Amino acid sequence: MGKFYVTTPIYYVNDVPHIGHAYTTVAADALARYWKLKGQQVYFLTGTDEHGLKMQRAAQEKGITPQELADANSEQFKRLWEKMNIQYDDFIRTTEERHMKAVTAFVDRLMKAGDIFLGEYEDWYCVPDETYWTETQLLPGRLCPNCKRPVELLKEPSYFFKMSKYRERLLEHLKLHPDFVQPEVRWNEVKSFVEGEVRDLSISRTTFDWGIPIPNAKGHVTYVWVDALLNYISALGWPDDPEGKFQSFWPADIQLIGKDILRHHAVYWPCLLMAAGVELPQTVYAHGWWTNEGQKMSKSLHNFVDPNTMIVEFGLDAFRYFIMREVAFGQDGDFSVTAFKGRINSDLANDLGNLLSRVCGMISRYLDGKFSGASSPQGLDRELEEGLNKTDREVELCFRNCTFHKALTYIWEFIGQTNKYIDTTAPWALAKDPAQKDRLETVLLCSAASLRGIALLLWPFMPGSAEKMWIALGLEPPLSGAMAFNAYHPRNPISKVQPLFPRLEA
Ligand code: MSP
Repeated sequence: MGKFYVTTPIYYVNDVPHIGHAYTTVAADALARYWKLKGQQVYFLTGTDEHGLKMQRAAQEKGITPQELADANSEQFKRLWEKMNIQYDDFIRTTEERHMKAVTAFVDRLMKAGDIFLGEYEDWYCVPDETYWTETQLLPGRLCPNCKRPVELLKEPSYFFKMSKYRERLLEHLKLHPDFVQPEVRWNEVKSFVEGEVRDLSISRTTFDWGIPIPNAKGHVTYVWVDALLNYISALGWPDDPEGKFQSFWPADIQLIGKDILRHHAVYWPCLLMAAGVELPQTVYAHGWWTNEGQKMSKSLHNFVDPNTMIVEFGLDAFRYFIMREVAFGQDGDFSVTAFKGRINSDLANDLGNLLSRVCGMISRYLDGKFSGASSPQGLDRELEEGLNKTDREVELCFRNCTFHKALTYIWEFIGQTNKYIDTTAPWALAKDPAQKDRLETVLLCSAASLRGIALLLWPFMPGSAEKMWIALGLEPPLSGAMAFNAYHPRNPISKVQPLFPRLEA
């Protein structure tokens, strides 16, 4: 049995969750569930990033301590993930003792290795992004090239990590591992960045104190990004590894991030790991950004899509489906309520929901909810089963490549094939002729076995609906087993079902 370790970024808790956070987390959840279903030993980590100047300022504005703000907002993330059916294995907070100990040990190791020196930082800093910039990188008007907000001039003593020392090795690693950064456009971006100048990284700050102290360096707290990146190994118990999780799960198989935090994950992170003698993750995958009805989401516009509202208005699985289906994972995309409703009505209510209602309805009506066991498949039936097996293979490839929208397209092609199979075999006509009883059974059995396969394929994306389908088909959870039609053995009678996805008014 193989293992699969997937991570999301840990989210800043100066504010509450929005669609951007939900997006990465649902993708990670889908990956984790998929590989779990395939029998892998899976570990799925998420959490919250709680230190730094941005947090300290946000708490000040609210008149509370940073810890109070972190406690309150970290809880919001946890609650949302519970509502969203996110099956994480661990939720790490950077203010936890286990994390702080690991960060101290890590910095200490780099100091002892001679990779950290004391100097002075004099350049620009973007507080919302917690990121350093040089004068030449700034946009006109001294704006952050990433988020386009004003930057601040910093001049303070600082410890530096000798990142430049690892430039060559990182370049070499990139060239040898085209999969290290995905999609390819991001790999190219990182490669050109590393081919340029890789400067030593300022890893401590002295002008505020909401952070993890640098060992034996009074007044210095660890740069929030160094602190945050280490969550991926601190959560596994690095360095002592009391439970053997680090040994079992590191290196991460895939680290999902948004494209805005690529440099931190594909340059700083591997260099830090190299310096500490820790293996690099297999893949860092950067997804695109969502706009809302064509507009960039921002605090000033108050236009963040709130997952809580979407779930209440449209249902959880519809929301999970839409964000995974609408946009290719590596690309930017737009969230539009019209498009969302369109997909609910056509893909979910019409194609999938109707198929389930039709099949369960006919099994209930024509067979009294039970199969007698007679089955003699013909060409058409075998074609349908082959369609399911093909879809299974295609979907696996999609999960290997994070092409979730394609996986769903393939699944919907098979839903279409099954609907067509029913139209062609016309069980309602067979039901009128007692001589066709066996044929009727076979056709309905194949239709239900297809739906069982569809439920298995959909579970990573829409776990709640897949479980409802499973139960409607007379099966007992948890979902498991092979795709093959002969793996379908309903335990309970099948009856008419409520619509899985009610149609919405246009
Ligand atoms: N705390 C850091 C990550 C540290 S990981 C060691 C951070 N946090 S964040 O809360 O600001 O952002 C988390 C993620 O949300 C990022 O991956 C970012 O790309 C993503 N998104 C923020 N806005 C987004 C959209 N509009 N669309 C899609 N994802 C977006 O960065």
